[in-house]
Amino acid sequence: MSDIVTPSAYEVDTLVAEDIDAYLVQHQHKSMLRFITCGSVDDGKSTLIGRLLYDSKMIFEDQLAALEADSRRVGTQGQEIDFALLVDGLAAEREQGITIDVAYRFFATSTRKFIVADTPGHEQYTRNMVTGASTADLAVILIDARKGVLTQTRRHSYLAHLLGIRHLVLAVNKMDLIGYDRARYEEIVADYTAFAQSIGIAGFTPMPISGFKGDNITSASVNTPWYDGPTLMAHLETVEVAGQADRARPFRMPVQWVNRPNLDFRGFAGLIAGGTVRPGDAVRILPSGRTSSVARIVTLDGDLDAAVAGQSVTLTLADEVDCSRGDVIAAADAPPEVADQFEATIVWMADEPLLPGRAYWLKLATQTVSATVQEPKYAVNVNTMEHLAAKTLELNGIGVATVATDRPIVFAPYAESRTLGGFILVDKLTNATVAAGLLHFSLRRSQNVHWQALDVDRETHADLKNQKPAVLWFTGLSGAGKSTIANLVEKKLVRMNRHTFLLDGDNVRHGLNKDLGFTDADRVENIRRVGEVAKLMTDAGLIVITAFISPFRAERGMVRAMMQPGEFIEIHIDTPLAEAERRDVKGLYKKARAGALANFTGIDSPYEAPEDPEIRIDTTAMTPEQAADAIVARLIP
Ligand code: ADX
Repeated sequence: MSDIVTPSAYEVDTLVAEDIDAYLVQHQHKSMLRFITCGSVDDGKSTLIGRLLYDSKMIFEDQLAALEADSRRVGTQGQEIDFALLVDGLAAEREQGITIDVAYRFFATSTRKFIVADTPGHEQYTRNMVTGASTADLAVILIDARKGVLTQTRRHSYLAHLLGIRHLVLAVNKMDLIGYDRARYEEIVADYTAFAQSIGIAGFTPMPISGFKGDNITSASVNTPWYDGPTLMAHLETVEVAGQADRARPFRMPVQWVNRPNLDFRGFAGLIAGGTVRPGDAVRILPSGRTSSVARIVTLDGDLDAAVAGQSVTLTLADEVDCSRGDVIAAADAPPEVADQFEATIVWMADEPLLPGRAYWLKLATQTVSATVQEPKYAVNVNTMEHLAAKTLELNGIGVATVATDRPIVFAPYAESRTLGGFILVDKLTNATVAAGLLHFSLRRSQNVHWQALDVDRETHADLKNQKPAVLWFTGLSGAGKSTIANLVEKKLVRMNRHTFLLDGDNVRHGLNKDLGFTDADRVENIRRVGEVAKLMTDAGLIVITAFISPFRAERGMVRAMMQPGEFIEIHIDTPLAEAERRDVKGLYKKARAGALANFTGIDSPYEAPEDPEIRIDTTAMTPEQAADAIVARLIP
C-alpha cells in the first residue's frame, strides 16, 4: 500500500509457518501493552488502527488468549489483506458496536502483544471511554492536523489522565493533508502543551503521522525529516507497561478464594496486585491486621521461589490465621490503609442519576461492601474542566464526593494502585453497574471515630422491657391510611404493656427532617435518617412503628438490612391511587393535580410497591380497626 513502509523488527517471524509450538511459547513470554485510541469520528481512528493491524501483519478477530489456546486462529496470519477493505470493515464494526461498548482488538509484533480499545468519541460515550481507559497503559490522542486541539481532545486527555494512564501519545494525524507542514505541527504541539500543563499532565510524546499513508507508523517517514522522535510502533513496543512499574511497589494480593481441598492444605488464591513475594516473607492480613509469614507459593506448575505483580498464585501461610475472600495479604511492614470513608471521583454510568444517600454495592478488588455516596462536592465539566456545583450526577457525569462504606475496606489511592483504588458501584436491585470510582484518600474522621463498646447492651434494654424489639415499617401512598392504622396499632400494643414509639412522616418532617423536601434525593435521606433513629430505638429495646411513604424499594431494603434478622416487619398499606385520591383527606391530591404541588407521590413522583411485604393490608376490604387487629395478631400471636 504505502511505499514508505519497510520491513523492520516488528515484522512477524517466519517461525510461525514452520513451528507453531515454538511460536506460541514465544508469544507467551512477550509483554503485553494495553492502549486506547481516542479522537472524534473523523480524526482517522479506524484508519490508524487498521494501519497498525495491517503493518503488524497479524490480525486476530478474537481474543489474544484464544490464540494461545487455539492454534487454528493463526491461519489468518500471513494472508494478504487489503488495507482499504480492512479499514472499512473496522469502521463498520465500530459503528455497530458504538452504543454497546468498547471494541477491543488484538495484534502482536515479534517483541510485544497488544490490546487496543477503540473507544467512541462523543460525550455521550464518556462511560465507554472510561471503561476502555481504566485498564490501559497508554492512550493515543489523535488530532486532525487540519483542525488542531479540539474540545474532544481536551476531554479525552482529561479522562485519560484522570484514569491514571501513564503514557500519552499526541498523534498529529493527516500530516499528508497539510503537506507535512512543520510549523503547523509545532503550533499544535505548543497548544497541547499549554493545555496539558494546566490539568497536571506531566509529559506526553508528540508525533507527526499519517495513518492513511503510513508516515511514522512503523518506520521513519521521509516526509518529516525534521522529526527525530520514535515511530508510533517503536514507541508502543518499548514503552513501560503497567506490570513492570507495579513490581517495584510493596507486596499486595487481594484474596480471590480460599483453596482448601483437604484439612492439610489451606491456600489463598489471588492475582498479585503489586510487588514481589517470596517464601519466608512477613505478611499482614487486612483489614484484621493479623500477621504471619509466607510458607509456600503454589502454582499448577509447582512451587515458586518468588512471584511478582501480574501473576496468579496460591499462597500458604505459616500460621492458622483467619483469612478469606476480600481480605488483602500485604507486606507486613508496608500495609495498605483500611478505612470506611473516602473522597473519590465518581463517573456516573447509568441512565438513572445518582441518588445521594442510597446504598449501592461497592466492589473494590475482591471486596464487596454496601456504600453510600454523599451529594457531590462538585461536578466537572469535562469539556472545560470547570468545577460546577451539583446535587447529583447524571449519565456520563463526573464529580467528586464523599463515599461511606458500611464496614472498613482495604484500599490505596487510585494514583498508587488501580487495583486497590478503583471501584465500581452496582445497583442492589438491578445488579447494573452504575458508576466507576477512583479513591483519592480516606477521611480522617473515619480513622478517629471508633465504635464504643457499651456495657449495657441491647439485650439488657430489651430484657428490662420484657419484649423483643421490632420495627413495624408502614409504607404506602399519601393518604393510604398509614398514620391512622399505625396509631391504632400503637394504642393496642401499649394496652398490652408493650414499650413502643411511633415515628410519623408528617411529624418527623417538622423537626429532625425539616431541612428535607420531596425530591428523590431528599426522600432517600429522609428514610436513611428514620432508619438510623429506628435502629437506635430497637437498641433501646423498643417496638418502633414508622409511618412514611418510603417510596423506594432500595431504601426500605437498606433499613431492613440494618436490623437484626426477623426484626423488620414491612407492612404495605395497599390503597389504590384512585381510592387515596378519592378520599384526599389532606386535599393534597387536588393541589397536585392542579399543578400547585410538584413531585407528589403517585402523580409525578414514583411509588415502588413492596414485592414481598410481611403484611399487606387492603384498606378497601377492611376497616382501620380490623387492619390494626390483624397486624397486632401477627406480631403477638
Ligand atoms: S417520604 O416519601 O419521604 O417517605 P413522608 O412520609 O416523609 O414521605 O412524607 C409524606 C407526607 O408529606 C404526606 O403524607 C403528605 O402529607 C406530605 N407531602 C407534602 N408534599 C408531598 C409530596 N410532594 N409527596 C408526598 N407527600 C407530600
